Amino acid sequence: MAGGSQFLRGIFVSNRLMWCALAFGGLLVLPGIRGSGKGMGPTPSGAGPQTLRTAAQSHHLLMGTAADADHLSEKPYSSILATEYSVLEPENEMKFGPIHPEPTTYNFADTDKLVDFALANGMKVRGHNLLWYSQLPVWIVSPAQPWTPAALNKILADHIATVVGRYKGKVYAWDVVNEPFNDNGSLRSDVWFDKPGIGFAGQGTRMIEQALRWAHAADPDAKLFVNEYGAETMNAKSNAVYAMAKDFVRRGVPLSGIGLQLHIGPGFDQQDSLDGLTKNIRRLAALGLEVQFTEVDVREHDGSSFSQSEQANAYKDLLDACLRQTACTLFQTWGFTDKYSWISDGWALPFDKNYRKKRAYFAMLSKLKSRGNDGPRPPHSR
Ligand code: G3I
Repeated sequence: MAGGSQFLRGIFVSNRLMWCALAFGGLLVLPGIRGSGKGMGPTPSGAGPQTLRTAAQSHHLLMGTAADADHLSEKPYSSILATEYSVLEPENEMKFGPIHPEPTTYNFADTDKLVDFALANGMKVRGHNLLWYSQLPVWIVSPAQPWTPAALNKILADHIATVVGRYKGKVYAWDVVNEPFNDNGSLRSDVWFDKPGIGFAGQGTRMIEQALRWAHAADPDAKLFVNEYGAETMNAKSNAVYAMAKDFVRRGVPLSGIGLQLHIGPGFDQQDSLDGLTKNIRRLAALGLEVQFTEVDVREHDGSSFSQSEQANAYKDLLDACLRQTACTLFQTWGFTDKYSWISDGWALPFDKNYRKKRAYFAMLSKLKSRGNDGPRPPHSR
């Protein structure tokens, strides 16, 4: 383990020297200095040590993480968040239950904290999410009288208009609909679709289309995504997502891209999975859509040295798959420290419980820097 980390540190140091030389030669686009890329935002400080954020910026890639308002007061948490990441996504605060706990009550306080923090640190905000079957408030899931589709339709329309409207111009992209498909490609049966639904039960993706149209009306400049898990490679679910996307693009439904969650274990890191992922990104990109990796985490087996190396390789290979296609505009992890992860015993993130950088972190940084040898990745053209 010591030998391995020394080796990685060696790569890190030599790459760092090379990048400093490039920067002084004016070849490297340093954030906050010039050419930070359309909409990439300033970084908190000028030329500090390279971070995931600054290294990714030269490839026109956003580095994101989910974050939690409760932890912002913890210094290492907020400091890593602001320096290593250019996108912040509230992990839970914007979900229907937390943000709209009672029919006429909205709770914006926690989301506001996160949005203010992000904007103060030159980060973009990704909104998560507007329509999901989970984390719903009691008043939606257990009403005194059963809902009619017309009543639910109005509730969801108002909810989307209110939440998107409040953060208009501040949230740059939304997961409008989260996890709408079953693994076999059919639509998930839930309160919004058919129990009783908002009026489009049995009409396939009409419900998703409606939610996108409501969000677009509330903020025409926001990028709008459908976000899924298990739809990363070529399978029945990703085929259904693709068919929906193709139909929406053809008919001008306001869809900017597809979010691929990528909650994986090191077992994913095999050639056939990576090839499937690449093929899937490519077909979505061919429609003119963006693809964003929205919730990456890689479970370890046991925290051992071997397991950490496997994890580091998986992170590196996922990042490589994203970097290879300009349509892949965001690489975002679902949190960044093992201290606060929904995976309580899988050590799935790039920083450990004490905020120390893990091999996964160095593997990603090294991947971002080594691509610099071939010149920065061009921006996505649409
Ligand atoms: O905030 C309450 C707290 O007041 C209460 O005392 C405590 C008691 O259980 O619960 C707290 O809420 C929890 C919340 O996380 C914040 O910690 C919820 O119970 C818990 O269910 C919730 O879990 C979240 C989960 O979504 C909900 O389904 C995870 O943090 C969050 O990481 C996870 O995120 C999802 C994405 O949104 C969609 N994709 C999958 C991903 C992982 O499951």
